[in-house]
Amino acid sequence: MSGTSLDGVDGVLAEFSSSGSLKVVSHAYRAFPEPLRNELLALNTSGPDELHRSALAASTLAGLYTEVVVELLVRANVKAGAVRAVGSHGQTVRHRPGLGYTWQINNPAMLAERSGIAVVADFRSRDVAAGGQGAPLVAAFHRALFGTPGETRAVLNLGGISNLTALLADGQTTGFDCGPANVLMDLWSLRHTGQRFDADGAWGASGVIRPKLMSVLLEEPYFAAAPPKSTGRDLFNADWLSGRLQHFDEACPPEDVQATLCELTAITCTQAVMTHAASAHELLVCGGGALNKHLMQRLAHHLPTMAVRLTDDRGLPAQHVEAAAFAWLAYKHMHGEPGNLSSVTGAEGPRVLGACYPA
Ligand SMILES: Nc1ncnc2c1ncn2[C@@H]1O[C@H](COP(=O)(O)OP(=O)(O)OP(=O)(O)O)[C@@H](O)[C@H]1O
Ligand SMILES: [Mg+2]
Repeated sequence: MSGTSLDGVDGVLAEFSSSGSLKVVSHAYRAFPEPLRNELLALNTSGPDELHRSALAASTLAGLYTEVVVELLVRANVKAGAVRAVGSHGQTVRHRPGLGYTWQINNPAMLAERSGIAVVADFRSRDVAAGGQGAPLVAAFHRALFGTPGETRAVLNLGGISNLTALLADGQTTGFDCGPANVLMDLWSLRHTGQRFDADGAWGASGVIRPKLMSVLLEEPYFAAAPPKSTGRDLFNADWLSGRLQHFDEACPPEDVQATLCELTAITCTQAVMTHAASAHELLVCGGGALNKHLMQRLAHHLPTMAVRLTDDRGLPAQHVEAAAFAWLAYKHMHGEPGNLSSVTGAEGPRVLGACYPA
């Protein structure tokens, strides 16, 4: 899995029991080398010779995915032949379900060739073809892993973008992308401190939340739109932030902007939880943003009736959840079972997701 944050690649080796329950056997992570990261970021907007450049970036990416796969096998002392499939999400560079497409750069053929393992890729397109958002796709996995009959529970993933899954007591599941989680904080941190992210949220915590700026940020219509909805860097990017900052004329040190961006994530996620899972007694948080202590404190502050805790407490470390979800989706594909939830994505119905490149 490599998500919108563009931080790097997370992999897990997962073992499934005959009932479909999952155990993570090993985890590996590779940060993106700077040139690959810059190229993937650049490919998020149109530019010269982009077909050729995306093909080259796809192969470089598949090379990095292969390294992660090999490391997972070595760590677990497992041979490639013992693995049924690799689920490979690819790197989203455009997400435009309203126009009928979502585009992940990937080279699954190369990954299959180099790893000697079947690869399942392009998970989102089938849901989009069926009229859905193609995202979030993790909701069914959250239900399978964290759902308890008769209990309402919320799961929040804090990647580049935040997404909520509301597991309702009556068995219904809703979910959607709430808005930016780390993507804006990361770019502001890089610009003003040279750090790719604000470790533990310490820099943001040193600033003051600016209410006027907050209200300008919250004017974004995406936040008030009803689900199904999904988003990405197509909307929440450097231009979006510059546009909002232009409407905010107070002199303001950069750490106050960071504090306000962190609060934007906390507030938009809180609104999502309160609108769709207000009776939940527990909010399980995963993704890299779960390591932002300041953000976790702000979430707990805004949700006093809920226990705000990491998925680690329910048996799956926060940084493993997204990668495990795509292992699970690959498992679903190999068993010919649907991986989407149409109540979440808005697709016409359940669909088997992805395409398989045999070993
Ligand atoms: N110690 C930390 N303190 C604060 N933030 C952190 C820390 N560690 C990671 N992060 C944040 O988490 C981000 C990476 O999270 P993650 O990998 O879950 O996101 P992603 O790649 O966008 O994934 P996805 O799209 O699958 O949700 C980093 O870019 C950074 O903002
Ligand atoms: Mg990541």
